[in-house]
Amino acid sequence: MKTEVINITTEYEKALSEAKRLINDGEVVGIPTETVYGLAANALDEDAVKKIFVAKGRPSDNPLIVHIAKFEDLEPLVAEIPEKVKIMAEKFWPAALTMIMKKSDKISNVVSGNLDTVAIRMPKSDYARAIIDACGCPLAAPSANLSGSPSPTNAKYVFDDMNGRIPLIIDGGSCEIGVESTVISFAEDPPRLLRPGGVTLEKMTELIGEIVVDDAVLNKLEDGAVASSPGMKYKHYAPSADITIIKSDFETFKNLCESENATALCFDGENDSLSCPSVTYGDKNDGFSQSARLFDALRELDEMGAKNVYARCPDTKGMGLAVYNRLIRASGFKIKVI
Ligand code: TXA
Ligand code: MG
Repeated sequence: MKTEVINITTEYEKALSEAKRLINDGEVVGIPTETVYGLAANALDEDAVKKIFVAKGRPSDNPLIVHIAKFEDLEPLVAEIPEKVKIMAEKFWPAALTMIMKKSDKISNVVSGNLDTVAIRMPKSDYARAIIDACGCPLAAPSANLSGSPSPTNAKYVFDDMNGRIPLIIDGGSCEIGVESTVISFAEDPPRLLRPGGVTLEKMTELIGEIVVDDAVLNKLEDGAVASSPGMKYKHYAPSADITIIKSDFETFKNLCESENATALCFDGENDSLSCPSVTYGDKNDGFSQSARLFDALRELDEMGAKNVYARCPDTKGMGLAVYNRLIRASGFKIKVI
């Protein structure tokens, strides 16, 4: 299959009409969002959704997020809308925020991975919402990477993974946030944070009170444990390089990297004083700048052929929690405190 790329910033109408044509025809299309690129298909068309799993090489028990363009699109997809979801939607949507609820019978088991719940997100990206609107149906879309590799933050990375596997990628430029959305479940009360992302735990707690942070956000799941979110049991965000997170001051980190001639994954500016190879991932004091860079930095490490990588440890407050959550997975939970 030939994979076409259409730039929505320069060919807006063509991008929308081609995405609409293919998705209404039961095909899978790569689309931009503000978090990461998605692999989108009509969420109400089981056969189309099955093609997403094939293109990604994704296990079928790992459910997909359903993307909507406006609040009214939510009601038919869920059994009921909990009060806290209404409050959250009013304040944050459209946003990097995915909310899980009991599903309605419109959502097939293919989308929900046989769970009785469904994950719904209204993306902030105007391009993403315009595509959903043009298609006239909710779009099921996981991140547009091959299962196991870092989520793609630009159309080139989608092409690298999906060339020959899907007919069309809509290029909307680089993703502003750079890591996937916050996932929070309202199928239980208090709600449970399953994946930290662009809408921070602090902001949500301020609005709706207590939120349980699932163990898998900060820790490795024990073998055989049942994951609240099936995605958490799979190896994720994994570059080929072997990454270890180093909890230490910068001097200790520098000595370690240089003495072992490792590759450093460090904050902006720190690379200036390192004599070993290095890749930076944002401002030390700004979680959003780190998230915007992290997945690109992981891909750059692979492009450099880095083998042994030592990573500076981000703060876990605010957006830092999402950055730390992705980095511990990229490192296979290898953390050294020095
Ligand atoms: O930012 C994002 O969320 C991107 C863009 C494309 O919107 N999408 C994305 O999808 O990251 P994906 O499939 O790569 O990650 C969705 C995560 C998975 O870990 C999945 O297991 C979990 O959400 N999930 C989906 N539905 C769920 C459900 N009903 N219950 C628990 N976890 C669910
Ligand atoms: Mg993913």
